Amino acid sequence: MQVDTLILGAGAAGMMCAAHAGSSTLIIDHAKAPGEKIRISGGGRCNFTNMYTDPARFLGQNPHFHKSALSRYTQWDFLDLVTRHKIAWHEKTLGQLFCDDKATQIIEMLRAEMAQAGAELWLQTSLVDLSHDGSRFSAQIEREGKRHSVTSRNLVLATGGKSIPKMGATGLAYDIARQFGHTITDTRPALVPLTFSDQRFAAISGVSTPVIAQANGTAFEEALLFTHRGLSGPAVLQISSYWAEGDAISVNLLPHHDLATTLRSARQNQGKRNVTTTLAEVLPERLVTHLAADMPLGGNVGDLSDKRIDEITGTLRDWALTPTGSEGYRTAEVTLGGISTDRIDSKTMMSRDVPGLYMIGEAVDVTGWLGGYNFQWAWSSGVAAGLAV
Ligand code: FDA
Repeated sequence: MQVDTLILGAGAAGMMCAAHAGSSTLIIDHAKAPGEKIRISGGGRCNFTNMYTDPARFLGQNPHFHKSALSRYTQWDFLDLVTRHKIAWHEKTLGQLFCDDKATQIIEMLRAEMAQAGAELWLQTSLVDLSHDGSRFSAQIEREGKRHSVTSRNLVLATGGKSIPKMGATGLAYDIARQFGHTITDTRPALVPLTFSDQRFAAISGVSTPVIAQANGTAFEEALLFTHRGLSGPAVLQISSYWAEGDAISVNLLPHHDLATTLRSARQNQGKRNVTTTLAEVLPERLVTHLAADMPLGGNVGDLSDKRIDEITGTLRDWALTPTGSEGYRTAEVTLGGISTDRIDSKTMMSRDVPGLYMIGEAVDVTGWLGGYNFQWAWSSGVAAGLAV
């Protein structure tokens, strides 16, 4: 079988690429269904883009690489597509756009776009062997126990990162990129809950509170959720991308509360109240009980000195915690790092060394914040390659 373009991986990026590539396109995936991560994303409603998409909200060794693709196919372009397919959507918070109904509508939309473009989708199909003779790729693929030879002028690597191996994530794109001389930057789980080996928050698991979480100079103001194994919630998922093992994070439990004034006025008017009772007006009660076991918060407010009030406030504004690890690829939404962008053309996503080899989506060393940014990268990089092949 001969095609112009063979795409490996029918996830978000691969399908978007197929929808923009010419009609002589074969897209293969080893899964039973395409876009499985789209299906489970955003609690089943798919946070498909973010209104505030901005290159600064992406991580990667080259902070400029992703600018071109993101500016040539924007969040508004994807929103147009969603609207054309009559998929109802809404903004949930912070510019995050979700389907009103269900994430599978996005998969159906991409399948329809691929079909219209004339691309052929083969599921439950694996790559067995791959070579390149300088101008064409030769792939041996296997579907339902049967081998097929495919030759193509273009090969697009769109098999994603390592997150959630249970859902079929593999390192195939990295292996092929390496085979063709590309390097892979260090990879690690990101947008992932952080853990503590002593399970110190087990007793307050389920408690959530607004915070500003900070690591290595980057801060996010969102909710923090205590879990059996440690910390989660959007603030922690976001900060996990900036955290490395051994680093401390700082949690400001009082993002908008002037606790010092509250304590001083309580000292004057309700001196006989416990400090913890006053704190429980500002923070979840179970959290205050937990904190009181660790910090000296006993006694009455009336007995607090100015210095002690400042100490309590300072501690709760800069609660230093050193997680022992993360929940890893088992639950990480994305993989940080990937195929180095050094030798990839940012306009077309084509290898600078191997003509016809393209790399897109999460497999590449571009990682977005939580909130629809990673899908936007998949759409933008997919379109860039699709229009270039
Ligand atoms: P993706 O992983 O989507 O697709 C890769 C495809 O390649 C898969 O279909 C896989 O089966 C196939 N494949 C892998 N190895 C293969 C092999 N060896 N042979 C053949 N096929 C192979 N992002 C966001 O912006 N908003 C959100 O709401 C969410 N929510 C979310 C929830 C959860 C639980 C997760 C795990 C992730 C998210 N994300 C997200 C992140 C988002 O899902 C992710 O960034 C994109 O799916 C990446 O798109 P890709 O197409 O690059 O990879």
